[in-house]
Order: sequence, then structure tokens, then C-alpha cells
Amino acid sequence: MAALRVLRRAAGAPPLWRAASGGRPPSVPERIEEKRRAALLGGGQGRIDAQHKRGKLTARERILLLLDPDSFDEYDMFVEHRCSDFGMDSNKNKYPGDSVVTGRGRINGRLAYVFSQDFTVFGGSLSGAHAQKICKVMDQAVMVGAPVIGLNDSGGARIQEGVESLAGYADIFLRNVLCSGVVPQISLIMGPCAGGAVYSPALTDFTFMVKDTSYLFITGPDVVKSVTNEDVTQEQLGGAKTHTAVSGVAHRAFENDIDALLNLREFFNYLPLSNRDPAPVCECHDPSDRLVPELDTVVPIESTKAYDMLDIIHSIVDEREFFEIMPSYARNIVVGFARMNGRTVGIVGNQPKVASGTAQEYGGIIRHGAKLLFAFAEATVPKITIITRKGAVQIIFRGKEADAEAEYVDKFANPFPAAMRGFVDDIIQPSTTRMRICHDLDVLASKTQSSPWKKHANIPL
Ligand code: HXC
Repeated sequence: MAALRVLRRAAGAPPLWRAASGGRPPSVPERIEEKRRAALLGGGQGRIDAQHKRGKLTARERILLLLDPDSFDEYDMFVEHRCSDFGMDSNKNKYPGDSVVTGRGRINGRLAYVFSQDFTVFGGSLSGAHAQKICKVMDQAVMVGAPVIGLNDSGGARIQEGVESLAGYADIFLRNVLCSGVVPQISLIMGPCAGGAVYSPALTDFTFMVKDTSYLFITGPDVVKSVTNEDVTQEQLGGAKTHTAVSGVAHRAFENDIDALLNLREFFNYLPLSNRDPAPVCECHDPSDRLVPELDTVVPIESTKAYDMLDIIHSIVDEREFFEIMPSYARNIVVGFARMNGRTVGIVGNQPKVASGTAQEYGGIIRHGAKLLFAFAEATVPKITIITRKGAVQIIFRGKEADAEAEYVDKFANPFPAAMRGFVDDIIQPSTTRMRICHDLDVLASKTQSSPWKKHANIPL
């Protein structure tokens, strides 16, 4: 019925109420109901079918999967765009709610603010009204202290609106920056995101993509072809592989919409709601004093032999659950979230399995390494370091006798010199690693540390 109404409107036919209500104009409740139904149908059944055919869910289906059942409270369902140029003010170009669904809901009982761009309405493009709706949820999220999750599927600035739409981006970007460090911001890219639509995700804390159906690019393949004469597909230019393995813009990719949304729910459980909240502590059935005997043998005695740091991480964290971030990028370092005795921990591990080379130097390892140092030094959370092995002895013994190298290894490439100087707190039996970390985290839970007042810091860019 609602689909029929949209099709009639599109065809310029008289509204159904004329027949239904015997010629009288609809009452306010009837009008509200009609708008509500139209809003639920977005750009119409035909476009919904096209979305499904591409293997994508609709904006509303995505929200329903992301949030706990019956927890979604929608805002601004009746907001319409205000553009009157290019015939945009005709009824057939007005969609209640415009091209984004916004509101709040719960993920495993915890509050989150959400916006979900609706590709069935003008390709999810950003009108002034669309931007206003997003800004409203961002403002409320900061006020109450809850994360913002953006489900992105947008052709960029609404071309018909010109500067109105560009000003909308400015409002969102400003909020992205002001929210940073106050509430977590997570972007899930679920369709083409072109033009201005790429920058808000890039300003958020985490950006995830869906394989084969999501893209991030400033200008699409057609523009690239016309400017540089290069032939490139959407996938090559800005697909999940490009951004998770090459550019580093996105932090992880998932198989499809459902997989992505379920993973997002899981990921959300690791995060605090805001900078005023501690990270959540989950009930833990994995004993904190569990010994991990395999750790006594996993690191080979020979310093040149590689091992897999993921084996070590999985063996010490609760229930072997590790949510890896950027698994395909800079693979010689492993980062992600896990829990120790129910507490969220961030893990950073060297990955000896993956070698680095000259490309690192050309790629600016000094500059990027400085960012890492900055981030470690700036963090005020409890920090625990486990040193599993060290190396790089050969360099000073080039062309010298093997005995000299062995003497050096004996003297320095072992834990004693550092322990004797107090640079490491203890030398532990590897199998006790989990027990020791859990215990230390208990003690460090009350850690307080503050940094000197700054107008702002200068992170090396
Ligand atoms: C208005 C748009 C739109 C847009 C898509 N549509 N993008 N309408 N403004 N930006 C409409 C299309 O006209 C079409 O309507 C419907 O959405 C679906 O789009 P298709 O092109 O049929 O879909 P698809 O083939 O999947 O291609 C998706 C796409 C492509 C790759 C996103 O639509 C595209 O390239 N769009 C333009 C992208 C772009 O250049 N954006 C930059 C805007 S400027 P009909 O009715 O025909 O079905 C910008 C600058 C911001 O963002 C700077 C701020 C810093």
C-alpha cells in the first residue's frame, strides 16, 4: 500500500486520501500516519529492492540489526530538505526524514547514538537538513556522554543544494573534532562514500568497511578518468582492500552488512561510553590465575627464528578473544582489544613473523614512529610491557669472531642487565604471564596520572 502511494506520487497521481476520505483533507493524525509510513519506505520499494539486489541492507534494517530489539528511538522522522531549486520542492522530491535515519538506542543495554544514511533517497547525499539531523544526535551524545555510530552510505554533498550542503559538512566536521576524546565515534562504511562523505569517517576514532559493497573516494572513477585518463574501478580506487591494506584509512573490513553490524556490536562492548566513564568490566569465566604452559616454549631459543605474536596474545587473554584492529595494515605490529579478568585492555604487539625493509624508511618510519611514541607517552591508563625477546646483535660484530658475539649475547641479550638496572620490574616465567598481568591490572585500577595543562599538543603529523 505504501509502495503504491509512493509510485502514485512519483507518477503525479492525486493523493490516495482523496478517494479514502471522500474528498475531505486528511486530519492531522492521518497526515502524521501517512508521513510516518512514507518515512519507513525511504526512497520507495523499487530503490529498496535495488539496494537488496546489491547485497546491501536498508538504512533502517541496519539500525535494527545494530541495536537491541525495540530499543531504537528515532528523531526527526518528519524533517524534509529545504531545497527549492531544480524542481526539488515538488512533492515527488520530498521524503519525510530525508536521506538519513537518526536516533538513539542500546547495544547490549548500553546507550548509543546512531545515524544511518539512506542510499534510496538521493543516493544518501547530504542536504542541509540531513546534516542538521546528524548534528543533533552528535550534540546529544556529547551532552549525555554516549558514543556516536555512523552507518555511512552516501554520494557526498547533495549536488542540487550547493553551498547549503557544504555548510552542513562544516557543521559535522567541527563536531567530529570537538567530540574527539569526549565520546567514542565509530564509522561503518556500507556503500559508496564520495566527496565530503569521506572526511567525517576519517575524523572519527574507528572506520570499518564492508567488503565488495563499500568505497571511500574523494572523486569516483569517472572523474579520475577525465582528469588523468587512468582507468580504475571503484574497488581499486577506494574499496575495502585498498583502505585496509594500502592507505590505512579503514581499520578493518567485514564480509557483508550483517557480519559488519554484528562485529560492531561486539566491538562496542570494549569501549567506555565517554571520557567520564571507565571501560566496561564484563563477567569473566576464564580464571585470572590460569597458567599458560605453552608460553614456556612458544618463543624459540634461537633469536633469529620467528614466532607468531597472535599465538601469545590469544593464549593469555580472556577466552582467547582478541578483536584485532588493522589486521591487514603494517602487519609487523599487532594491535587490538581484549579483556583480562573482564577488564578491557588495548594490546600492542610486535609481530616477528612479518619482516620490515627499506620501504619503511621511505614511507616515513621516523615520523610514524614518533606518533607511536607520542601516543604511548600521552596515555594515562595503566601500561604494562612484556618483553618476549630482543635481537640486533650482529651489527657490531660484523667480520669479528663468533666468540665475541656469543660473549655479547651472554652479557646483554638476556633479561639480567635490564633487571639489574631496574629497567624491568621482574623476570617472570612465561607461563605465569596471564596471572601476572591480571594481578597488576587489579592493583593499577586506581592509577591516577595527569599531564601538564596545555593549550594543545603538537602530535607529529
Ligand atoms: C544528489 C545524488 C548524489 C549527490 C548520487 N545521487 N549522488 N544526488 N547528490 N551527491 C543520486 C543519483 O543521481 C541517483 O539518482 C541515485 O542517487 C543513485 O546514484 P547512482 O549514481 O545511480 O548509484 P551508483 O551507480 O551506485 O553510484 C553511486 C555513486 C555515484 C558512486 C555515489 O552516484 C556518484 O558518483 N555520485 C556523485 C559523487 C560525487 O561526486 N559527490 C561529490 C559531491 S561534492 P537517480 O534518481 O538518478 O536514480 C562534495 C564536496 C564536499 O561532496 C566537500 C566538503 C569538504
